[in-house]
Amino acid sequence: MDPTVWRVEHFDEIDSTNTYVKDRADEPEGLVALADFQTAGRGRMDRSWLSPPRSSLLCSILLTPGLESDQLQLVVALVALSARSALERLSGLRAALKWPNDLVVDGDKLAGLLAEIVSHGNELRVVVGIGVNLTYDGPEDVAATSVLAQTGLTIAPRALLDILLEEIDVRRALLNDVDGRLALREEYVIALATLGQHVRVEQSDETVQGIAVGVDEEGRLRVDVDGVVRTFSVGDVVHVRAGQEQR
Ligand code: BTN
Repeated sequence: MDPTVWRVEHFDEIDSTNTYVKDRADEPEGLVALADFQTAGRGRMDRSWLSPPRSSLLCSILLTPGLESDQLQLVVALVALSARSALERLSGLRAALKWPNDLVVDGDKLAGLLAEIVSHGNELRVVVGIGVNLTYDGPEDVAATSVLAQTGLTIAPRALLDILLEEIDVRRALLNDVDGRLALREEYVIALATLGQHVRVEQSDETVQGIAVGVDEEGRLRVDVDGVVRTFSVGDVVHVRAGQEQR
């Protein structure tokens, strides 16, 4: 397979980069929308995602991996792992992943990913949006952090995007065969701070507590709840520690 040709479109202001790329998901892989500011940025579980102009990397990436729906979590994991490596290369900061795909430092949120699946004929395409806090620590009610707060460094969004795309290039071919997907899954599991933690899984209709014991082939979280292992495909996870919680 040929390497992805990245086509970055930069906006001073847009409603949501995810919406923009989703509306153009019939284009070839490699479309990237980058924005200084979003007026209607979207997060997981129907939340909004707001940050002051130029304080974050706000971008969405179109990938056409040719995979089945039960394999698409790996595509999102690929972008999360690439973002983690890009941040480490640029700033030395080593973030962990919190299930499903947040980047966290000591439990505080540094970045979030929003993946949206679009059908194109028989094919499933993936829009992966990512917001990385560069100089903004997030809203008061969220335990969040930024690259600036962690390292004292001010990184330009475009500089991080360029390295992120390089890191995606490094991993992209792994999606094409079984061995590559296994290697990617292994990298994901190693980076996932959630495993082994006492967690609370919050869903719209139910909240449960237990020990996170693994992720299955489809990227679903397996939680031991009082001796019974339950599997979760959506939800917010809170890492519960004695006396403190990490959202
Ligand atoms: C989350 O943690 O809830 C996911 C947040 C994803 C935010 C990014 S910012 C760029 C892209 N455009 C959006 O509207 N959302 C994603």
